[in-house]
Amino acid sequence: MPTSHAPAPKSHEPAPPDPATGTAVAAYPTGPTGTGPASPLGPADGTTLPGGTTLRATVDALPAPRRTARPRRFLMCPPAHFDVRYAINPWMSGDAPVDSVRAARQWEALAAAYRAHGHTVETVAPEPDLPDMVFAANAALCLHGKVFGSSFHAPERRPESAAYEKWFAADGHAVRRPESSCEGEGDLVPVGGLILAGTGFRTSRAAHAELQEFFGVPTIALHLTDPYFYHLDTALFALDDENVAYHPEAFSAGSRQVLERLFPRAVHATRDDAMAFGLNSVSDGRHVFVAPQATGLIDRLAQEGYVPVPVDLSEFHKAGGGIKCCTQEIRS
Ligand code: ARG
Repeated sequence: MPTSHAPAPKSHEPAPPDPATGTAVAAYPTGPTGTGPASPLGPADGTTLPGGTTLRATVDALPAPRRTARPRRFLMCPPAHFDVRYAINPWMSGDAPVDSVRAARQWEALAAAYRAHGHTVETVAPEPDLPDMVFAANAALCLHGKVFGSSFHAPERRPESAAYEKWFAADGHAVRRPESSCEGEGDLVPVGGLILAGTGFRTSRAAHAELQEFFGVPTIALHLTDPYFYHLDTALFALDDENVAYHPEAFSAGSRQVLERLFPRAVHATRDDAMAFGLNSVSDGRHVFVAPQATGLIDRLAQEGYVPVPVDLSEFHKAGGGIKCCTQEIRS
């Protein structure tokens, strides 16, 4: 393990990768410890030094910076009633029935992984007849202690809004329910003083406007074009307050350009990694809770100095969900 001035991790860092399989995941303890800015040195790109090297090349040659975790508060819904009973996205074919015992085990492993890395996990009581209620991310966007709730696109999911509003009320939060279709963190990703807001399948442009008015935070519309990536959180996640990982082909040409401008050093994921729910990940700034099937992305994240923590939620993939979908972040 590296020597570090950072506080000791609450639990073990993941084991180094198995050189035989390459599947695992690593602390990659090769980077500097606690030195240097985490941010890219974008503006210096292309500057030529005496001798002919460009500064960009010099920067790229540096090891990845040591990333810093910030403890989070998460809301999750136990999968007691999780099932695939209707089809509102292309993943929900119902071909493979949900194994509820396995789903419960996988969900517990995710909650345990969060806790082991110093995060708080709260739970909301699951309600019968709401098989998608387990996807807590869709319930709201909670930012600066204010809660913008959900108005689900599909009638089958609409009763979930009230169930979550009850939890937020008990937690001391009034919830503003959007007037038009809006599916919470499924489509709304806060990063670095902006809210990235997906549209095209679920959340409407009208909801983006309402949201911007509610939070007073600049809201950037991103158009999703591939039905397999029907929510923004299936195609993009925030690595920290400065950077994101995403799959460019999930977006319209204009939205891709917007992402390029905003995040020139983003981590790009392949379609295979995105189809493995690799972008439905949760990052605390250092640890990235990620689908183990997204092997290419896991390697890229490790190269960038993040610590991938693989958690398999394959039962939830049958409903079109993964790690992030099961996780609502409560930001005070
Ligand atoms: N079956 C659910 C739906 O289609 C899955 C939701 C996944 N949640 C997410 N945040 N992407 O609505």
